Amino acid sequence: MPSKPLPKSWTVLGLETSCDETAAAVVRGAPPGPGELLSNVMFSQVAEHSPYGGVVPEIAARAHVELLDGIVERALDEAGLTLADMDAVAATAGPGLIGGVMVGLVTAKALALAAGKPLIALNHLEAHALSARLSAGTPFPFLLLLISGGHCQLMAAEAVGRYRLYGATIDDAVGEAFDKTAKLLALPYPGGPQIEVLALGGNAKRFALPRPMLGREGADFSFSGLKTAVRSIALEHAPLSDKDRSDLAAGFQAAVLDVLLDRVHAAMQRFRTEFSNTNAGCNLVAAGGVAANKIIRHGLERLAVREEFSLSIPPPFLCTDNGAMIAWAGLERLSLGLIDGLDVPPLARWPLQNLAKSASSRVAVA
Ligand code: KG4
Ligand code: ZN
Repeated sequence: MPSKPLPKSWTVLGLETSCDETAAAVVRGAPPGPGELLSNVMFSQVAEHSPYGGVVPEIAARAHVELLDGIVERALDEAGLTLADMDAVAATAGPGLIGGVMVGLVTAKALALAAGKPLIALNHLEAHALSARLSAGTPFPFLLLLISGGHCQLMAAEAVGRYRLYGATIDDAVGEAFDKTAKLLALPYPGGPQIEVLALGGNAKRFALPRPMLGREGADFSFSGLKTAVRSIALEHAPLSDKDRSDLAAGFQAAVLDVLLDRVHAAMQRFRTEFSNTNAGCNLVAAGGVAANKIIRHGLERLAVREEFSLSIPPPFLCTDNGAMIAWAGLERLSLGLIDGLDVPPLARWPLQNLAKSASSRVAVA
C-alpha cells in the first residue's frame, strides 16, 4: 500500500508591533497545530513607557522603527533560516496604536516584496484567538475568552475568520482595569503582573468590592465600577499601609475572577446549545495578556472541570503580545490561501467578528 502523503507544513515569519512590544518569530507547522517555535524574539519597551504610567503612542512608534530590523534579523538567525526559507511574511495590521501598526506592516510589505513571498496582514485579536492552536492544537469550534489590555470579549470561534460575538465589556477592558488599579496602588506599568504579586499575601475578603454584571443575562462585562470602588477605598484609608495595598490588590483580583467566571459560565450555556451537534466536544480557550494570571488560570480550570469543557490556555509567554502568535495565525491563513495584497491598509480599529477574508473588502478606520 502506498503510504499517505505527509501533511504539508509551512514556515512563516511574524511581526508584532501593535502596542509596546516589538516582536518577531519564526513558526513551522500545519493546522490545527500545535506548531513549532523556531524562534521567538521579543523586546518589551516597558522601561521607555513606565515613567509615563502607560504606553505613549509616539514613543512606541519611534522605538518600533529603531528596533524592528534588528529583531527580525535575530528571529531569522535563531531559527537558522533566511527570508528565502519562509513561505510567507505576516504582520499585525490592526487593531492597535496606528503608528506602531504602520511600522510592522510596512516592514512586512518590504520583506515580502524583496523576497517574493506572500504577505499576510493579520488581525491582532485573531492571532490571540488562534494562539491555543499554536500551543495545543485546539480544534474548532471553541469558546474563546479574550482578555487583554485593550479587549475583553467572549465569542465562539468557528473557523479561521469566523467568530460569533457572545459578549464584550461595556466600559474598561479587564487588563485596563488591572493597569488603572495598579496605578491607584502606586505600582508601575504594566500593572497586571504587579497586582498578581502584591495580592499574594493579601486578604481578599477584607474590603467589600462590587462584582459588576454578576448574574446578568448575556455575556457582557463591566469593570469601571470595580475600579471606582477601589479608588474610594484607597482614598478612605490613605495613606495606605503595605497591608492595605496587598488586601486591596487581592480583593480586586478576586472580584475580577468572580466576574470572569460568571460571564464565562453564561457563555458556556449558549455555546453548548449552539454547538451541541458538533462532534468536537466543548472546548474553552483563554487568550490575551490577562490569561497569564495564575489565579485566573486556576479559576478557569475549576470551572471547566465542573462544566465538562476541555480547557486550553497558552503558556504565559504566548498570552501576552508576541511574534509567534502572529506567525502562527499567518500560517493558518496561508494554509487556506488567504493572502493579502501589498495595498492592504493598517487599521486602528478592526472588530474580530465577521473578519473580511480579502484585503479589498477592508475599510481603513484610522
Ligand atoms: O495581550 P497583551 O500583552 O496586550 C494587548 O493586546 O492588550 O495584554 C496586556 C495586558 C496588560 O493590561 C497587562 O497588565 C495584562 O495584560 N497582564 C496581566 C498579567 N500579565 C499581563 N494581568 C493580570 N495578571 C497578569 N499576570
Ligand atoms: Zn494583544
